[in-house]
Amino acid sequence: MSGSKNYFDGFDPIFRNKELLQVTHLPDGDRIIGRSEELDNLANALKQATKGYTPNNVFVYGKTGTGKSLCSKFITRQLVETADQNDVSVGTAYVDCLQDTTETQAVQSIADQLNRPAETDVSIPASGLSTSEYYKRLWTILDARHDVAVVILDEIDKLDSDDILMQLSRAVESGKLDDSTLGIIGISNKVRYKDSLNERVKSSLCEREFVFPPYDAQQLQDILASRRDAFKRGVLDDSVVPRVAALAAREHGDARKAIDILRYAGEIAEDEGADRVMEDHVRHAQEREEQNRLSELISKATPHSKYVLLALAYLTVQTAGEDTDATEVDVASNDVYEMYKQVCKREQSEPLKRRRVRDLLSELEFLSVIEQQRQWEGRGKGNRMVNRLVDDPDLVISACRNTTV
Ligand SMILES: Nc1ncnc2c1ncn2[C@@H]1O[C@H](COP(=O)(O)OP(=O)(O)OP(=O)(O)O)[C@@H](O)[C@H]1O
Ligand SMILES: [Mg+2]
Repeated sequence: MSGSKNYFDGFDPIFRNKELLQVTHLPDGDRIIGRSEELDNLANALKQATKGYTPNNVFVYGKTGTGKSLCSKFITRQLVETADQNDVSVGTAYVDCLQDTTETQAVQSIADQLNRPAETDVSIPASGLSTSEYYKRLWTILDARHDVAVVILDEIDKLDSDDILMQLSRAVESGKLDDSTLGIIGISNKVRYKDSLNERVKSSLCEREFVFPPYDAQQLQDILASRRDAFKRGVLDDSVVPRVAALAAREHGDARKAIDILRYAGEIAEDEGADRVMEDHVRHAQEREEQNRLSELISKATPHSKYVLLALAYLTVQTAGEDTDATEVDVASNDVYEMYKQVCKREQSEPLKRRRVRDLLSELEFLSVIEQQRQWEGRGKGNRMVNRLVDDPDLVISACRNTTV
């Protein structure tokens, strides 16, 4: 071999362990920055489970990229280990409700994750059973294998009904389980999700409720710095991490955004054949991130949420001119509503009531797609709400179109 060229050499001048920059990567506890209070709260709510008792059900909400999924997964993993030391068996299931939107899919997924057919003699086929049969098998599996199950329902607002919440919370109360018990962690970034639940489910799911605040620039820097070893030594210019953190903090302290920008910056440097990642790469990376984030958010939005966004984007383009930058155009909610009705007409869809559209606009603000501000109109007129796109309107329009509006 010696003397011959190694064709694998030089493939990766930039990255050493890119895995550290994937969203799915679950960092160790000591790499979770600035969330000790939140982790304490979660642990407190769940601690009964370490002794085999029913934990509190928990509802976690906060803006995107604030560590909700990460902290929930981390704490349940630690819970399982701690319980194990007490000879208590805790099983966990993680459901991404964006993928498993129906009650049947969700219960199938939970049962499948908790099952070991060799131990239980129960099979959980991917489909083909009735919903109630899946539940029945789930209770059998739980009683056979575990003292406690903790079920994480991530993006819980994407479930098409709250029946599963009803069933899971009832299982404990109504004695469906003989030798085991169960707790739920529900996660959402929708402000109003809770309002849509029926009272019974709400009081059960939200026994403990935690809001995860956005990260500040320093915390984002620390989060990025703790993943520096994703890159080869000396490859990251000193300006890169602070720059990325500042960009992500400016909009709304989103760790996912910060990590994505850092990864894109590395990829762009790599594509260019550069041997270092510089501040200039960060600028391009930010554009790429903006586009991807927008497409992803919009692809998850409901049709009417897209119509509202399109209406705002059209009005922004109309208003922006030579002297007005599109990102500085404010549009009154009433005007958005009028344009929204036209969009609905074009889409041959019945428009929602004004109030619902107002709610959709505040959802979009919570997701940081738009900014809202109340403006004083003068005596006798009171306040009006104005809306502003965070991103370029053309980007928004093309993202909405690409996702089949
Ligand atoms: N405190 C932290 N320390 C280290 N990494 C973090 C921290 N918070 C978030 N991250 C990382 O940022 C990314 C986004 O975090 P996470 O998926 O937990 O956000 P989220 O609040 O669930 O967002 P969404 O509402 O969009 O699902 C993940 O890659 C995660 O590992
Ligand atoms: Mg999440």
